[in-house]
Amino acid sequence: MTTNINTMDVNQKMTHFAERNEIWLFGYGSLIYKVDFPILDQQPAEIRGWKRRFWQGSHDHRGTPDAPGRVVTLLAEPDEVCVGMAYLIAPAVLDHLDFREKNGYLRTLVPMCLVNGVETSGLVYIATAENEAFLGEAPLEEMATQIAYSVGPSGRNRDYLFQLADGLRQLGADDSHVFVLESAVRQVLKSGDD
Ligand code: BEZ
Repeated sequence: MTTNINTMDVNQKMTHFAERNEIWLFGYGSLIYKVDFPILDQQPAEIRGWKRRFWQGSHDHRGTPDAPGRVVTLLAEPDEVCVGMAYLIAPAVLDHLDFREKNGYLRTLVPMCLVNGVETSGLVYIATAENEAFLGEAPLEEMATQIAYSVGPSGRNRDYLFQLADGLRQLGADDSHVFVLESAVRQVLKSGDD
């Protein structure tokens, strides 16, 4: 069952780290290539037990309510490791992110491992299957076509995917879901040109 909760309200009520003046935030999607907030430090990082999937609908950034795009969320998967970028931020930055990622994403506490070997706990934004915008899995061709042609206020859905794939290559991340989807989208676009 899906629920239409106001994720901004829920996120703003989270009091974890309230007494801290800095927090580690794990980025695995647009945060890998779009940092529009002040940071105190950044480090490549990984979180264990999570996989990245293009299973969240986007009607406010990379699509519209009538034609939603697809963006990433995380799914629990015991044997998987998700590679991303961790940012050390002041708690006030979360207000900005709660607004930017208001379409179904909830702050979640996770243990993370920084590239310097430090293990710490921090926050990650996750859109679960219960949120209204969740799309879930679809055949590769279908997801690729949706991503190839969706456009929203933040730009083309395909550019989100291509920038994320480039960012992951720079991190040396082996993420076959993203890279297979990237190839499939390029193929869809090439076929459309014929
Ligand atoms: C991220 O890039 O980590 C991210 C993805 C979805 C919502 C917020 C942040």
